[in-house]
Amino acid sequence: MQQTVNVDLGERAYRVEIGPDLLAQSGHYIAPLLHRPRVAVLTDETVSGLHLEGLRAGLSAAGIELSALALPAGEATKGWPQFERAVEWLLSEKVERRDVVVALGGGVIGDLAGFAAAVLRRGVRFVQIPTSLLAQVDSSVGGKTGINAPQGKNLIGAFHQPSLVLADTSVLGTLTDRDFLAGYGEVVKYGLLGDAAFFEWLEVNGPALASGDMAARVQAVTRSVQMKADIVARDETEQGDRALLNLGHTFCHALEAATGYSDRLLHGEGVAIGCAMAFELSARLGLCSQESPSRVRAHLRAMGMKTDLADIPGDLPGAEALIDLMAQDKKVVDGQLRFILARGIGEAFVTSDVPRDAVMSVLTDALAAR
Ligand code: GLY
Repeated sequence: MQQTVNVDLGERAYRVEIGPDLLAQSGHYIAPLLHRPRVAVLTDETVSGLHLEGLRAGLSAAGIELSALALPAGEATKGWPQFERAVEWLLSEKVERRDVVVALGGGVIGDLAGFAAAVLRRGVRFVQIPTSLLAQVDSSVGGKTGINAPQGKNLIGAFHQPSLVLADTSVLGTLTDRDFLAGYGEVVKYGLLGDAAFFEWLEVNGPALASGDMAARVQAVTRSVQMKADIVARDETEQGDRALLNLGHTFCHALEAATGYSDRLLHGEGVAIGCAMAFELSARLGLCSQESPSRVRAHLRAMGMKTDLADIPGDLPGAEALIDLMAQDKKVVDGQLRFILARGIGEAFVTSDVPRDAVMSVLTDALAAR
């Protein structure tokens, strides 16, 4: 059942291993990277309780010792204070230039640990062991690392590619349904942005995948990672095509800011709603038929996911305020809002040429339906 995806980045190329029970085999995969048999692991308190012993056993089968620091779980960890704590801990553990740091956790830990590895002694190697669906299909692959600033999310960071990614699909069984479905928002995104056949496959297999079918989970993670790897290999530092991975994210970032980055809206939930809105906007601009946004929404609904602004609890600001929040996104270039729109399912493209009125009308109607 196990699959391998290569991220072809020349001398920074690496493999993503995807399949069940990879924690148990972690020593086998990590040993060839090591000059001495020990690793420093950054994780969070929740993941540590669930999976650190599994990792310890897998590493020790290959004679590798680990020391671990568990940071508090949650987005608030992804800032200077816990970053400083992590870097100082790595130094106190005497991690050297040729050693390897392991990130065991979801997107917060992967981003923070990757950035710590990027700056520690001017750069040490690191291995991503993503434990959330979102991290397995998106944040652990592609080398974006960093932390949040008071001014916004992910504003401090570096491109630093991992040396290996181990996506153990068994650990997805410990996620809550809500976290799993939020990660699934990113999986759907890949079908919508570049692979209509994958979206069709998800329409058929999504329910089985959500209820635990391991073969379907491996297939969905593999296809998602393959698509991301292909895009990253073409455009590692997001000068062009990599922006396609931000389908749904312009709307999502405004909604996350409007809900205070709280658990009213998880990132993956915002991506799913944002994808539906990007297709609605595309249809209104005459780029695709109205059937496309209807089909996107139908699938999200069938999966029991948040689909519209009406699904976000609590108050939301008006359309003008949401557009202002979009304009604060770090991907704004020369003040122009940049959107990923689509000519149909699987046919996304990047454009800065979107009339403000069209965005306004999509938001106004979506808010009125609440
Ligand atoms: N998550 C978007 C990217 O890696 O480019």
